[in-house]
Amino acid sequence: MPDTEKSLRRLELSNVLRVPVILNVIDTIKLPPGGKGLDAGCGNGFFALMLAEAVGHSGHVNGLDIEELFLTRGSALASQAELAERISFVRGDVKKFPFKDNAFDWAVSIDPIGYVILQVHPAVLLKQSARVVKSGGMVYILMWSLQIMFLGYPTLEARLNATTLGVAPFDEKMKPDSHYMHALGWLKQAGLSEAKAQTFVGDINPPISKENSKPW
Ligand SMILES: C[S@@+](CC[C@H](N)C(=O)[O-])C[C@H]1O[C@@H](n2cnc3c(N)ncnc32)[C@H](O)[C@@H]1O
Repeated sequence: MPDTEKSLRRLELSNVLRVPVILNVIDTIKLPPGGKGLDAGCGNGFFALMLAEAVGHSGHVNGLDIEELFLTRGSALASQAELAERISFVRGDVKKFPFKDNAFDWAVSIDPIGYVILQVHPAVLLKQSARVVKSGGMVYILMWSLQIMFLGYPTLEARLNATTLGVAPFDEKMKPDSHYMHALGWLKQAGLSEAKAQTFVGDINPPISKENSKPW
């Protein structure tokens, strides 16, 4: 299987685990109904669909990703969910969005580890997001961290939590200043006012329920 197909498969498997928390995030940020937004690094568009649901019939979401295969999958999912009119998928690079200044009411980027692996610092993505979002709009970046509870096995638990699963760096190429703990600083560097960090917690306990494991 080519690498991009493998990444798509991995992403689709991980969606099962991420859905409850991301739904909670979307519910909390309360996107303006009817607004126009950007999902930067949208992957297979799975969460762009949820964003499109959140903005309602008169809203619109642009999903941007560098991988054509992901965008093709996103378009198929949008048609399947009868949301195609509310979503456009565009191939592009987060280093330079193919959009005019002030084109959107908000911009979201969910789990953009990919950028870091490709050695694009998250601050670059946030600066681009700030450029394309209108004054008074919102820019969101959502990052993951994992804590493993292995009750009764404290040493194993500590070891697991010290691996790439527990703490960044997720990848040996990742620079320490790309760690999520610096996210508030990146928002400020991007010139965004009223930068705020918030934590969302989700419990994932096997076996995964049928409800959480069904595709869109
Ligand atoms: C970990 S995935 C997250 C995808 C999606 N946001 C989600 O949460 O399901 C990171 C995504 O970033 C995309 N990506 C990586 N580098 C990029 C770049 N320079 N410009 C645009 N997209 C990029 C990858 O193709 C991948 O879809």
